[in-house]
Amino acid sequence: MSVACLRPALEIHAAPRITVLGTGTVGRAFVARHVALKSRGVSVPEIAGIANTRGFCRVDRDCPNTVLNQLRESTARSEASWISSAEFGRGDIVVDASASDLIAQQHAGWLRGGAHVVTACKLGTGTSRVRWQDIRDAQTHTGTGYGDSATVGAGLPLIRTLRELSEGGDRITAVAGVLSGSLAYLMNNFDGMRPFSSFVRAAHQAGYTEPDPREDLSGEDVRRKVLILARAAGLALDVEDVQVESLVPAGLQDVSLETFNRRLPEIDPQMRARFARAHKKSEVLKHMGRFEFLTDGTLIARVGLVSLPASHAIASGAGTDNRVAIWTDRYCDNPLVIQGPGAGAEVTAGALMDDVLRIQRAH
Ligand SMILES: NC(=O)c1ccc[n+]([C@@H]2O[C@H](COP(=O)([O-])OP(=O)(O)OC[C@H]3O[C@@H](n4cnc5c(N)ncnc54)[C@H](OP(=O)(O)O)[C@@H]3O)[C@@H](O)[C@H]2O)c1
Repeated sequence: MSVACLRPALEIHAAPRITVLGTGTVGRAFVARHVALKSRGVSVPEIAGIANTRGFCRVDRDCPNTVLNQLRESTARSEASWISSAEFGRGDIVVDASASDLIAQQHAGWLRGGAHVVTACKLGTGTSRVRWQDIRDAQTHTGTGYGDSATVGAGLPLIRTLRELSEGGDRITAVAGVLSGSLAYLMNNFDGMRPFSSFVRAAHQAGYTEPDPREDLSGEDVRRKVLILARAAGLALDVEDVQVESLVPAGLQDVSLETFNRRLPEIDPQMRARFARAHKKSEVLKHMGRFEFLTDGTLIARVGLVSLPASHAIASGAGTDNRVAIWTDRYCDNPLVIQGPGAGAEVTAGALMDDVLRIQRAH
């Protein structure tokens, strides 16, 4: 089968069908979940097509797994060409399991065309305010669904809880959380004695960090998650409204990955000092993303390391778990706390599928 020559279908379909974008860790787990649910007799829309940077393939009569594997093995390159002619049928569901900005730019257009979008990629609603508003407006005007449960906490009930509290009239006064599995692992294991860099290397080897650990250490991924959570709570924050402290040492931001890996121990003195300061106060160091209204009504949003007393709502937590505390009118003295696995292919694919089924039920 030639991969590059096939194009997404243009017609309007009687029954909604799924197009999966991305055949990596999450895309593969999503297709596996689809096959497993169907074999258990669950009513799930058919997968009509699958795409990666190599091209787009219709599934037709083949098992989606077979098509996915063909695409994974394809050596063609046609990243943008299939998108330029893509038109999904009204009512179809596009599942974005890529990390592509090119694809995220299309979300609003696809919604305007009548397709629903379900995404694990944060680049749609976790970047500029203009892009987020465009997606929201497109959804409102067309009544289409935008499933974003997988973007923060890999399906933990964070985004929908904030939306429901906000829509129910509860004022959300603060949200603070450990929002990155890799940074949770690093801060839960760093003991102030062994070098921090050795934990970064261990996290990398275990697959907890991105291939370039600077993507985690820079705090940019958590900035996107804070933006998504704040917007779900009804706050129209923009990128620069979130102050981000990068843990990447000065001078290592723009060097090659190889040089960064070699010079990684340069991170150790600053981390040892931060740990010692916290330890002296009998506190723990956590990497936190948060937004909160100060007593004078000012809204602040920050990402970075914080030193917390053991009694703080997010001071505990283990492994790679996400842990998020929400303070509202209702939950003012004791916050509502949500904790659990916030990354990983299976939970992320499960969150995508939950959104697909939710859209199927609602339309
Ligand atoms: N992994 C997790 O635990 C997790 C958890 C929550 C959210 N997420 C999010 O889920 C998304 C996918 O993560 P992943 O770990 O599965 O990434 P990955 O393994 O790198 O896979 C990304 C896939 O997207 C495809 N892709 C990139 N640009 C494309 C384009 N223009 N058109 C079609 N396909 C394109 C890639 O194609 P090629 O194969 O051709 O390169 C690849 O198959 C990311 O946004 C990530 O942030 C991941």
